[in-house]
Amino acid sequence: MASYKRSRLKDAGYRRVVPLVLLVLTTVLVLVVIFLLRNEAGSSYYSSYDDEVDVESSSLEGGDHVQLEPKFRPKLPEMTDLAMSLEQRNQLPPRNRDLFPHLAKDHIKIVLYVHNRPQYLQVVVRSLSNVEGIGETLLIVSHDGYFAEMDRIIQSIKFCQVKQIFAPYSPHLYPDRFPGVSPGDCQDKDDPDEKKCRGNADQYGNHRSPKIVSLKHHWWWMMNSVWDGLTETKRHSGHILFIEEDHFIYSNAYRNVQLLAKLKPMKCPDCYAVNLAPSDVTSKGEGWESLIVEKIGNVGYTFNRTVWRKIHAKAKEFCSFDDYNWDITMWATVYPSLGSRVVSLRGPRTSAVHFGKCGLHQGNDKSTACIDNGNLSFDTDEIDKRSNIISNWPVYVFKKKTGYQAGFKGWGGWGDERDRELCLSFAYMYHFTEVSSG
Ligand SMILES: *[C@@H]1O[C@H](CO)[C@@H](O)[C@H](O)[C@H]1NC(C)=O
Ligand SMILES: *[C@@H]1O[C@H](CO)[C@@H](O)[C@H](O)[C@H]1NC(C)=O
Repeated sequence: MASYKRSRLKDAGYRRVVPLVLLVLTTVLVLVVIFLLRNEAGSSYYSSYDDEVDVESSSLEGGDHVQLEPKFRPKLPEMTDLAMSLEQRNQLPPRNRDLFPHLAKDHIKIVLYVHNRPQYLQVVVRSLSNVEGIGETLLIVSHDGYFAEMDRIIQSIKFCQVKQIFAPYSPHLYPDRFPGVSPGDCQDKDDPDEKKCRGNADQYGNHRSPKIVSLKHHWWWMMNSVWDGLTETKRHSGHILFIEEDHFIYSNAYRNVQLLAKLKPMKCPDCYAVNLAPSDVTSKGEGWESLIVEKIGNVGYTFNRTVWRKIHAKAKEFCSFDDYNWDITMWATVYPSLGSRVVSLRGPRTSAVHFGKCGLHQGNDKSTACIDNGNLSFDTDEIDKRSNIISNWPVYVFKKKTGYQAGFKGWGGWGDERDRELCLSFAYMYHFTEVSSG
């Protein structure tokens, strides 16, 4: 990789010294950015993306600057041929733009992240095809590894604009070196001194397993790419909704999440997110006539760029916590480090169901609506087929603390320094500008 230097814009030093000058500079910069974007739009296939140029939300805005780890420089593995060809596909524009030429003005983009469970993905895609309003938005599918059947299922989607991205540093694309396994890597509970092998064991004495670390790497790569890297999303000012390959999505999900996102500033100004489902994945909701506020769940969650910047600023915490689960990492370190109560707004009836049984979580997986093989059909009640949230409902706040929280030590699996560095590199890869060579 070429060497990197710090991007000039991100240097926060001036800010404290002459705020007025900065305000003027910021205004000028925003104007310059607008100008550049206009020019770019005129010369690329994004020319009809006029509804996408939401400049006022760019990270130049007050207090929202990207914080960098001092002295850390992103270092990414050299790509394999397969990784490189997938990275080229990542640059392709969304499909189905002929069928859906315009995204709705205040659409919420959807990111579906997947690995390799085609029989699950089938179910999810079928459920998405019935979602009211789906044609108004862009669906981004983020793949961990390349699997032809997964690719085929996504390519067959015809109900909205679709953009596929493949995590180019997925361990699944590196059969004989990091982020896959390198010759000479320690395994299981090897003692590095005795075996003369490479690696740092986790807190339980186990060495890294690429299959296991790939989940957290993928989630973090995807988050960074979606918010700060991808042309289609990096200037999106609204919410982005995240779902997974084993989430059945109700047909009312999109309209509900739109309404909840709109209600959030009034109904729950302290909420960081909106959720499609209760944080307890076995619950389908209380069915009350009330909005619910509780901890952020890991099924169908949506937030905006302001919240992303706060999460991103905790990259070090995220990347150094010894747990291979992204969600437990968030609950146990990132959210608690953000402040008092990091909560989310949702409806009293779920709009998404987690049905995957083969989640790797230890200890917390009692989900009943979970399949391994074969077909799955969810009977949705009539009331759940259309938007079923009423704007003037009161808000009920769950105060009890449940599940993983600050103080939890982690399930391990994330002890190797190389994983922690790659993770940090993902956080900063879009925030350093390359020194032009030559
Ligand atoms: C994003 O959401 C946060 C938390 O709900 C809110 O405080 C903030 O104003 C929102 N930002 C934008 C740009 O809407
Ligand atoms: C699952 O569904 C497919 C297509 O709808 C059908 O062909 C197949 O027989 C079903 N399998 C089972 C086990 O029900």
